[in-house]
Amino acid sequence: MADITDYFIDKFRKGLDQDRVDPRYFRPRAYRNAAVRFRKCSIDDFETRRDILIREAGLNAFLFRADMIPGCDLLSDSGTTTMTIEQWAAMMTGDEAYGSNEGYFEFKSQMGETFGPGLVDDDSLGGSSKSLFIFHQGRAAENAFFSVLKNQLQKGNASFGQHLSKDLDRELRERIELKIRSFSGEETVLTESSCIIPSNSHFDTTQGNIENKGMIPLNMPCREHLANDEEFLFRGNMDIEELDNLLATEGARVPLVYLTITNNTGGGQPVAMSNIAEIRKITKKYNIPFFFDACRFAENAWFIHRNEEGYASRSITEIVHEMFSYVDGFHISLKKDGLVNMGGALVIRNGGAFAEKYPDFTEGLTDYQIMAEGHPTYGGLSGRDIKAISEGLRTIVREDYLDSRIKQVGRFGEQLVKQGLPIIRPVGGHAVYIDVDRFFDGRADDGDFKAISLVALMLIAGHRVCELGLYAFGSYNDGVESPPNPRVNYIRAAVPRLAYEDQDLFSLAEAAGILAENRDKIPGVNVDYGRNLSMRHFKSRFSFKG
Ligand SMILES: Cc1ncc(COP(=O)(O)O)c(C=O)c1O
Repeated sequence: MADITDYFIDKFRKGLDQDRVDPRYFRPRAYRNAAVRFRKCSIDDFETRRDILIREAGLNAFLFRADMIPGCDLLSDSGTTTMTIEQWAAMMTGDEAYGSNEGYFEFKSQMGETFGPGLVDDDSLGGSSKSLFIFHQGRAAENAFFSVLKNQLQKGNASFGQHLSKDLDRELRERIELKIRSFSGEETVLTESSCIIPSNSHFDTTQGNIENKGMIPLNMPCREHLANDEEFLFRGNMDIEELDNLLATEGARVPLVYLTITNNTGGGQPVAMSNIAEIRKITKKYNIPFFFDACRFAENAWFIHRNEEGYASRSITEIVHEMFSYVDGFHISLKKDGLVNMGGALVIRNGGAFAEKYPDFTEGLTDYQIMAEGHPTYGGLSGRDIKAISEGLRTIVREDYLDSRIKQVGRFGEQLVKQGLPIIRPVGGHAVYIDVDRFFDGRADDGDFKAISLVALMLIAGHRVCELGLYAFGSYNDGVESPPNPRVNYIRAAVPRLAYEDQDLFSLAEAAGILAENRDKIPGVNVDYGRNLSMRHFKSRFSFKG
């Protein structure tokens, strides 16, 4: 006989299930706070922040002191996680041996469990069968990867001719030529050995590392993304037709194809399993290796689980294993879905297309790693860091964690919309992207960089976000400013893992609402320093116009 408690249990359950429609009664977080950090400053102290911002930081959000931010610091979700008590406990057991520390073996075995069989399967610490390389963060792995790749290509005397094929899609050819001009600052000069590295969208450091080695990074986001299709749930996808055309005509100068999961630069949007499988098919057809930039692999898997047909009953771990079964290797900044404050890794599949094509690569990488990062078993990290990563990789695939995290980011996005901010929809896994072009409703003069002002005013309000648009991705050569192509013009509010509550994020949304109401009054900026520098958004200084 059903008693009254069953009746209420049924009511409670139905209340929880409303969370997708009406967040009046959403689930509690899957965790609770175990340590907190009190603020040093008050949200009311606007004038002090303004002084610091203008005098010390030159309106550059990267140069503003974190301890003077009383609200949300959403500059990055990278390395900003709050660790779990299990991670802190694991750190106490860190083995700081110089060679072959205990944590390395645990890490290697955990990487195998997290990413699936056949990918991290080396039983050697060096040599050509080694598949796992530790780095202190993602970009160190990228730099190592492209440095050694360049050496391998040079050793092989790679020569692909100075002209792009006539059969290359015209629009794609123009994009490649523009890219070459934007970093060579010259006419479209292609050397015999110029390589192209395509991706759905490269992250800025990946792009920087590729360009730094004289290679051409090429973004190929899917059409639904470019068309701003708000109904399409996998806007991180790559444009398959473009990729096929590129590999058919210029495959010889493509050493590998990349996919960033989720697509940070494109809006933090997920990539569908079907897209991953298609890319595998095409890369196999042309015998070209396929890699992930895998920073947010677990968040990507959650979206597949929720939104792609056939995956609702599959666990996150099963989905991750399938995703990674398609690739020949990957690099990862563990500062995101490794759930730690520092760490990175590079994995080359033994017997995969990349290892076959560049058989000396892992030997060269081991040498590089020893010279730049330390012994391969710690790679720039302390033994305690390595312990925290293994524990983080166990937590990150928990569905209750991912549910709390990604739905919180979604609620934050909706709150920004309520406050009148145009955002990229559907909201991705780790961040909300404010569409600067729509925010200024065509009123922004590209040369004015009003997004920099908007970010600066948010800082005065007490919250930090980040410009990822015309300034971060554009370039300045011979007095001419070129916007990124394809055009991206966003402000990113990246939510650190396990760190903020809705109240904090909603407070930021309200401050953003005040700026939206008064957008006509937001000035442009003068660039006082660094306009023509590489990676200029990290280094430049600005002042308000007028
Ligand atoms: C997609 C992507 N790739 C690479 C990186 C670089 O990683 P790291 O910051 O650890 O160097 C980042 C950092 O935000 C990223 O988002």
